[in-house]
Order: sequence, then structure tokens, then C-alpha cells
Amino acid sequence: MPAFAVIGGQWGDEGKGKIIDFLCEKADIVARYSGGNNAGHTVINEHGTFKLHLVPSGIVWPHTTNIIGNGVVIDPNVLIKEIEENKLNPNRLIVSDKSHLIMPYHIILDKLEEKDRGENSIGTTGRGIGPTYVDKVSRNGIRIGELKNIEILSEKIKIILESKNQIITKIYNSMQLSFDEVMESIYLWKNKLEDYIKPIEKIIIESIKNEKNIIVEGAQGSLLDLDHGTYPYVTSSNSTIGGTLTGLGLIPKNYEGIAGIYKAYCTRVGEGPFPTEILGKLGDEIRNKAGEFGVTTGRARRIGWFDGVAGKYTAKINGFDALILTRLDTLDNWEKINICTEYEIDGERTSEFPSNLEDLKRVKPIYTTLEGWTESTRSVTDFSKLNYNAQKYINMIQEIVEVQAKIVSTGPGRNETLHIKEFIT
Ligand code: IMO
Ligand code: MG
Repeated sequence: MPAFAVIGGQWGDEGKGKIIDFLCEKADIVARYSGGNNAGHTVINEHGTFKLHLVPSGIVWPHTTNIIGNGVVIDPNVLIKEIEENKLNPNRLIVSDKSHLIMPYHIILDKLEEKDRGENSIGTTGRGIGPTYVDKVSRNGIRIGELKNIEILSEKIKIILESKNQIITKIYNSMQLSFDEVMESIYLWKNKLEDYIKPIEKIIIESIKNEKNIIVEGAQGSLLDLDHGTYPYVTSSNSTIGGTLTGLGLIPKNYEGIAGIYKAYCTRVGEGPFPTEILGKLGDEIRNKAGEFGVTTGRARRIGWFDGVAGKYTAKINGFDALILTRLDTLDNWEKINICTEYEIDGERTSEFPSNLEDLKRVKPIYTTLEGWTESTRSVTDFSKLNYNAQKYINMIQEIVEVQAKIVSTGPGRNETLHIKEFIT
């Protein structure tokens, strides 16, 4: 059972890139299963800083094969850029022929639809993610494997473009896309990407059979999951464990470990309820100190206290058996630290995460306040060498979330990481 998943337990930006890179020493394959270049995963090591949006974070290690699964939506221009910047070749990167293409009209529509939503905007990344999944589900999408037969594809594009142009001009009064320009891009994509595009099912099945370790890299976070997240303020795919089955072709019994990755506090980019949000001066101070600005869009991230109610909920729906806590060092020198242990709603206390948006908007977080620490936790690689209050904080989080903490990140670098217990054995 050699598959291990690392899945965001909050609203994304939990430090997935750094942890995947840390775990890669024991990986043969690193695979992504959902989302697209709405993700922003940062890897920092002795070779430099890598900001990846689409290719798996395993590409930094030369011994790994990296797979982009059928559940991912692909902006081919971003894929070409990441392949060239990281000097990848088809031995290092395999793209499922069934993954869907983000077309230029999807990007235009994402932005126009957001504008149309006005006050109710979701705060999408504007990368065309939602409209691409909509076309996939309504069976009007284009799979990347279709690049292999341009003659048939060009006929299809002609028809699709006509209808998309109608929407773009008639509803939104915006510029039409030219068929010739789209086709010019398609020839370029085929030329640059064809060798990377393959069926992945057999590769996954054979790898499992041969006991190769597959690390499954989550994108976004569980609270942004289309079904289990804070709908409609979510992304358009399943970022939770279920998405790994459909988005890669794994089966449940392949899994040996499913880790939930959580930041030591909370952040959220874009709109939607955020019960433990810290507004005002304190929020601004933390954001600036922690550098909480999006890797993908540069937007300021909203800041909040660790939300144990939400954290326990995401642990349960994914079946996390390991907790990975990141950015502990960011809390150094905080006088007091709050952890949300329960919500109050209509005068009643609950530790259940509300199922609907209206209730979630009304909850009042109940906090336990812990003493902070002044001693630096930066780069500490041994749990027993952490300041006692920091240890207490980690222990309290694992108790609330009800998952054993196995890895703690104490800085952005690969080696600024401590193991409480091995995750990949
Ligand atoms: P990583 O993998 C944080 C958020 C957007 C928006 C909502 C919908 O880096 O953790 P979309 O463009 O997906 O339709 O936007 O989802 N979002 C993320 N927030 N980290 C991410 O990825 C995100 N990917 C999408 O901000 O609120
Ligand atoms: Mg991000």
C-alpha cells in the first residue's frame, strides 16, 4: 500500500509545497489530482526558491517521476513555462491525456463572471478554473489528449468558439476571440507538450504493484472543496481525499497514510466566511510579519486564529491519520495565542462545523488562550528542544483535531522541519 496523501486541512496555503519537498526523499512518484494553476506551492532548498503552480512539487528532486492527473485542469501556457523554467523532460513529467485544457475563453469568462457577481463575488484567482470544470461536467470540454489530432480538434474548436464568442460579446459586451489565434496557440501547445501526454492509469497501477511510493500532492484546502467546503465560496474541484481517487485513478486500499496539513494559524484568500478572522491592526501586523500574500495572485491573505472546529471537521472527512503543522516559528514572540475550541450559535455551544453557510456566518468562536513564547523555534529539528509553550500548543492542536501530529515545520527551508513520528515508513 504505497500511496501517501498530503491534503490541506484549512483554506489552502498551508505549506504543501515545502512539505512535499521534504517528504520526497522517500518518493518515487509525486502526483497532483485536482485544481490547476490556482495553486501556488513554494519549495525552498539549496538550489533556490521554486514557485510552482501546476507541476508537482516533486520535480525539484531529480529521482522523482511527476504526474499531473486527469482531475487537474491545465493552462498549457503555464505548463510550457514551468517545463522550460525547470528544464523538465517527458521522463520526469507525465500529463494525463484526460486532463482538461483551460482555454483562453475560460480565463475571460472567469473574470467576467466574477465582475457580474458584484457584491457576491467569490474572489477567484481568475485563472479560468471554474469555467473549465463547468465545461468538463457539461461535456463541452477539451481534453489535452485531443491535441494529438488537430484536424478533428480544429472542427470542434470552430463550433465551441462560436458559442463562447456569443456569450462573451452578447452577455458581457467584451472582445471576441479569433479562431486563427486560438489555432495558432493550439499548434504551439501540441508541438511543446505532445511528448508529455500519456494515459496514466497503467503507470499508477504498475507503480503500486511494484511497491513504488506515490506521494499525492493536494492543492487548495479541504474547506475550499466543491462539496465539503464553504460552498459557494469554494473552488470547482474536490480537493479532499475523494478527489485523489477520481483525479488519479487510485483506489482506497492503495493508501498507507493520509496526512492533513495545517498552518499553526489560519489564512484565507478570497471571499467567504472565516469565523476566527483577526481584523484590524493585529491582523495587518501578523500578515506583514508573516508575509501572508498569495503566491498566485499576490493578494493579501486574511488572517485568523487556529480553528479547531474546522480543523476537526476536515480531519474527519478526509480520514487524516497524521497531522503536519507548518509555520510554527511565525508564532514566536506572540504574547498570547488563541485556539478556537468550539463555536457558539444562537447561545448554544457546539464543536460541529455547520453544514450550511448561513449558520457558519453566524457562529461566534470560543477561544482558549495560551501563553506564547519568546524563545525562537526557527529551524528547531527536535521536538524536545522546542520551547515548552510551543510543545503545549502543538499538543493542544492535536487533541482538538484528534489526529496525531507527526511533522512540524519550523521554517521555510527543507531542513527546517522536525519529525515527531515518521509519516512515510
Ligand atoms: P494552494 O494549492 C488558497 C481560492 C481562491 C478563491 C476560491 C475559488 O496554493 O493552497 P478559483 O480560482 O479556484 O476558482 O478560486 O479558492 N483558492 C485558493 N486559496 N490557496 C489555493 O491553492 C487556492 N486555490 C484557490 O482564492 O477564494
Ligand atoms: Mg496558494
